[in-house]
Amino acid sequence: MLTLGIETSCDETGVAVTRGRHVLANVVTSSVHLHKKYGGVVPEIASRYHVEYIIEVLAEALSRSKRPLEDIGLVAVTNGPGLVGALLTGISAAKALSFGLGRPLVGVNHVLAHLYSAFLNEGPAPRFPFVGLVVSGGHTALFLCEEVGRQRLLGQTQDDAVGEAFDKVAKLLGLGYPGGPVVEKAAMASEGIHGIKFPKSYLGKDSLDFSFSGIKTAVLYYVRDRQRTEDRGQRTEKKNPKLGKDLVADVCYAFQEAALDALVEKTCLAAAMYGVKTVVVGGGVAANSRLREKLSQGAVFNNLEAHFPKKEYCLDNAAMVGFLGEELYKKGLRSDLYLSAEPNLEVCNA
Ligand code: KG4
Ligand code: ZN
Repeated sequence: MLTLGIETSCDETGVAVTRGRHVLANVVTSSVHLHKKYGGVVPEIASRYHVEYIIEVLAEALSRSKRPLEDIGLVAVTNGPGLVGALLTGISAAKALSFGLGRPLVGVNHVLAHLYSAFLNEGPAPRFPFVGLVVSGGHTALFLCEEVGRQRLLGQTQDDAVGEAFDKVAKLLGLGYPGGPVVEKAAMASEGIHGIKFPKSYLGKDSLDFSFSGIKTAVLYYVRDRQRTEDRGQRTEKKNPKLGKDLVADVCYAFQEAALDALVEKTCLAAAMYGVKTVVVGGGVAANSRLREKLSQGAVFNNLEAHFPKKEYCLDNAAMVGFLGEELYKKGLRSDLYLSAEPNLEVCNA
């Protein structure tokens, strides 16, 4: 059976054709270039972009899959969490296709879809039970996954999501949006000459929750302080003078190390607490090479098996929606034409 996956929860318009773990086509277009000058996603712009491109993306996905629309056996769509106006476009398209083709419809939780994106791989699939870490621009959470559709929330961020923290740090350093890739790139050039260290927040020894606002504020104070010093040194009249490249690189490195260490340590702690041998990561921040390196090292040290999605499935995409939709369908889940956009959809403990 072929599944048509549709994703429009934020600024990516995605349509994919999947069969189990096999991806026949995965097409994504993003309105990110339109949001850049605002330093973050503007919901109205994102919504309009989806309306403009959804049909084109659908046609391209079908064309790349080399399969006609009639071969689609199931329609899976993200129905939350996300921006309500953005979600509506994908849901409306999915309902129209489901109704027109006479095929079943399944609503998919975007956060859980990220968690299962590591299954879209040719290698061995992650084995249940596993500890799943979702790290994106809107979410940072740890789950214990017993089987598809049966999971328990173990901990989550108490303030900013880790991707959001990357975005904010990039903004205050004047590096642009989205922040993750630019902070990672700047950090790679760091030589550590400034010896910067930012505090890590653990929220208690056994806590599986996260907090990133403290690191973000520490970066803000450090940058302001350095700007004042530069200002005095250069006797400029400029407000917020630009920091040197080597200093920016060191700030990015120190921030990234502190943020990623908390993710890795808590993921390994969760695996130990629940006696699980497999850890799985998903979401935009899973594209970060340093996170992959650190978690792989943590996994070896703790005798765990770590699974990462391919980079193309880390950021928002519809292949992960198609995969999870099909799995949930096989477990009996069905949605109907009353399926609604749920901006604050939570992952149910089941
Ligand atoms: O999963 P995603 O595409 O959208 C949400 O569901 O939020 O994640 C986007 C987030 C952004 O905050 C972006 O800065 C971050 O993922 N991100 C990264 C990297 N690439 C994207 N963060 C760290 N390192 C990266 N290489
Ligand atoms: Zn996402």
